[in-house]
Amino acid sequence: MQRTLILLKPDAVQRRLVGEITARFERKGLRLAGLKLVHASRELAEKHYAVHKGKPFYESLLAFLTSGPTVALVWEGREAVAVGRNLMGVTDGAKSPPGTIRGDFALSVQNNLVHGSDSAENAATEIALWFQPDELVTYAATDANWVG
Ligand code: TYD
Repeated sequence: MQRTLILLKPDAVQRRLVGEITARFERKGLRLAGLKLVHASRELAEKHYAVHKGKPFYESLLAFLTSGPTVALVWEGREAVAVGRNLMGVTDGAKSPPGTIRGDFALSVQNNLVHGSDSAENAATEIALWFQPDELVTYAATDANWVG
């Protein structure tokens, strides 16, 4: 069982795509372990995108992530990190295949609607950044025999 952090970034909220995107994770069979609406501070955005510090797109990316509320979600399930990345598609919305979230709804590189952790290790770090431990909820997997 694995956990991943998924962010529905400010463009997803502004474009009223929160339900549409969240539904895809639910239908896949992942289980919701955390959910909140956060207007990210500069400090949180800097920590979240620390790996990109110094890159040409860094300042613009921080301005985007702090421009409005983000929905932060923790999903858990088998191979949750890889499953999340597959549902999202590739970084550039224009190159992301149809059927993926970015492929269906994004055209931009920066404004690509979703963030998803790219490894289990990064997922643990990112979840700790966006959530307090008591904001994550574990409950009985009544559907375990059906979706794995
Ligand atoms: P990255 O972690 O490489 O992509 P992903 O979100 O697919 O894991 O980059 C983080 C975000 O930075 C990406 O979602 C959009 C933005 N970005 C740009 O604005 N320009 C760029 O050239 C790249 C590579 C990323």
